Amino acid sequence: MTRTLSIVGAGRVGRTLGKRLRERGWRIGAVVTRSAATSRAAVRTIGAGAPLAWAGSVGIHLHGKRRGSGQDSALDVTAIFAADVIFLCTADDDLPALVRTLAKLGRAKCKGKIVLHTSATLDRTVLAPLARCGAATGSLHPMQAFGGKLIPKLSGVIFGVEGDPKARRMAQSIGKSLGGITVTINTRDKPIYHAAAVMAAGSTYPAIEAGVQLLMGIGFTRARAMQTLVPLIRQIFDNIERIGPRAAWTGPLSRGDYAIVARHARALRRYPREFRQSYAASSLLAGRLLAKNPAVAVGKIKRALAGG
Ligand SMILES: NC(=O)c1ccc[n+]([C@@H]2O[C@H](COP(=O)([O-])OP(=O)(O)OC[C@H]3O[C@@H](n4cnc5c(N)ncnc54)[C@H](OP(=O)(O)O)[C@@H]3O)[C@@H](O)[C@H]2O)c1
Repeated sequence: MTRTLSIVGAGRVGRTLGKRLRERGWRIGAVVTRSAATSRAAVRTIGAGAPLAWAGSVGIHLHGKRRGSGQDSALDVTAIFAADVIFLCTADDDLPALVRTLAKLGRAKCKGKIVLHTSATLDRTVLAPLARCGAATGSLHPMQAFGGKLIPKLSGVIFGVEGDPKARRMAQSIGKSLGGITVTINTRDKPIYHAAAVMAAGSTYPAIEAGVQLLMGIGFTRARAMQTLVPLIRQIFDNIERIGPRAAWTGPLSRGDYAIVARHARALRRYPREFRQSYAASSLLAGRLLAKNPAVAVGKIKRALAGG
């Protein structure tokens, strides 16, 4: 049976889901953004769908129709809720107001529909106004960075799935049909699920930039600094993937060489405070999580940092 999907917030994630699901036989209904130009661009990327643009607080505006009349609002929300599944892929901060407005305009049209958002941190409770109108609600979060220019394939990607039973079943089926691996997350655990990703992956951006800037401070070009650090990082990630972070751990802390830690802390005094703080925080975390005797290691690291 061909199912229809509407996408409200057809940015990086919305367009990717739309395109990949169309390739798997889904019919694409309304494709909604804030501006007419971006909704048309989204439809071109997806390869199907009816472009709609948000027209402020009054409602949604179908291209070619008059903005803001009550009739337009009713008609256009009908286009969105004509789908079996409605994906809400706006930024997290925009979701609560969008949900309230969709519930107000959609009312009975929400009944029996499945509404999913793609936020990593938020859970289904942000969709409560739609649930009260009779929609099944949940979230489907692809653990993948969407840069914007490229439309990634989603096979092999982990999808965090959360929601009421009907929404969860649909989210699992969508994730699997995209070739992904679905993992069910308890509603209350969504912030931790996302914090884990930000700690493990998000922290690499500033950490690598800090390393690059330290090398540039002693005369390296940016290109040479990258050439110096990136192969090292790659090798570390390869080792971590093969044998895990604890077994792969190298560097002065892994050898218990705390005099070097004190020396680094002294050298970093010439740099903005955040460099020292980050070095101290990651050293202490390493002692706590990776050392054989964490209590002893953390004590020694604290003394080394204070002496630095
Ligand atoms: N980017 C990632 O790597 C990533 C990964 C996984 C999950 N996520 C999650 O996925 C969601 C979307 O992220 P994104 O990176 O795709 O965001 P994005 O590229 O900034 O796209 C957001 C889209 O929402 C539209 N929009 C905003 N307010 C709207 C409204 N009231 N009605 C209709 N459309 C509206 C914007 O329209 P205009 O184009 O007209 O401005 C834009 O097209 C977020 O919850 C994010 O946390 C992101």
